[in-house]
Amino acid sequence: MDLGLHGRIALVTGASGGIGAATARLLAAEGADVVVAYHRGADAAEVVAADVRAAGRRAWCVALDMSDAADVQRAVTDVGTLTGGALDVAVLNAGFNILTPLATLEPDEWDAIVRTNLSGTFYLLRAVRPLLRAGSAIVTVASVAAETGAPHHAHYAAAKAGVINLTKSAARDLAPAIRVNCVSPGLTRTTMGEMTVAGTTDNLVGKLLTGRIAEPEEIARVIVFLASPAASFVYGATFDVNGGRDLR
Ligand SMILES: NC(=O)c1ccc[n+]([C@@H]2O[C@H](COP(=O)([O-])OP(=O)(O)OC[C@H]3O[C@@H](n4cnc5c(N)ncnc54)[C@H](OP(=O)(O)O)[C@@H]3O)[C@@H](O)[C@H]2O)c1
Repeated sequence: MDLGLHGRIALVTGASGGIGAATARLLAAEGADVVVAYHRGADAAEVVAADVRAAGRRAWCVALDMSDAADVQRAVTDVGTLTGGALDVAVLNAGFNILTPLATLEPDEWDAIVRTNLSGTFYLLRAVRPLLRAGSAIVTVASVAAETGAPHHAHYAAAKAGVINLTKSAARDLAPAIRVNCVSPGLTRTTMGEMTVAGTTDNLVGKLLTGRIAEPEEIARVIVFLASPAASFVYGATFDVNGGRDLR
């Protein structure tokens, strides 16, 4: 199936690693040019950009800190300059977590996690909207923890629940010109996924129908579908990509 992404221009946050890097590569394979947005991983972002160019597409690397509204606006203004003032896809994938039991969770850490994951998604939505052409798509990224909660995830899970709800309100406000949808991944083999496994005594894999965690590409494929014109009738949806975790 042709997803209809050829010649489109996509911004992917958190594209220096994990799910975002897989998404950037897959978008390029489908014919899109990609802005590879990163936070601290400049070298990793350059590797992803080189892969996008090797696929015959244009790539630009842009640093941004999604927890800082002014920095997001500065970076997205730079994106507009690089891309000629237009975007067709924004994948708001970047995220950050620290595993902390509720008993020792301090307000500063709560604020940092909520500001990065939830406020940061709003800062990006606000900044990219004027660049998005009619027929564009935004894909946000939440987490299975948003719906189930998880030990030591109180701030992160609450922030990601907010991302799901923000997605629905944004979908209402921006329709029909811009589609906004969410992908809610389960445990995935990335830096964050490995930290989650290392930080819990829960049998996380035992909760899955798959008997294994996801590869980043398995999440990226669903993100790229929702970002594409092939998903033209999907508005305000949250796609759970979690190996059947909810069914256990
Ligand atoms: N892996 C899982 O098991 C899992 C499960 C459910 C949901 N998720 C969600 O999936 C998304 C991708 O996660 P991942 O597993 O691919 O994580 P990852 O491998 O740890 O990558 C996180 C990405 O986010 C970027 N980032 C972190 N803080 C940032 C900030 N303040 N501003 C801008 N970018 C920032 C990082 O940039 P630099 O490296 O350049 O600093 C990196 O590119 C996240 O939203 C995460 O919450 C992951």
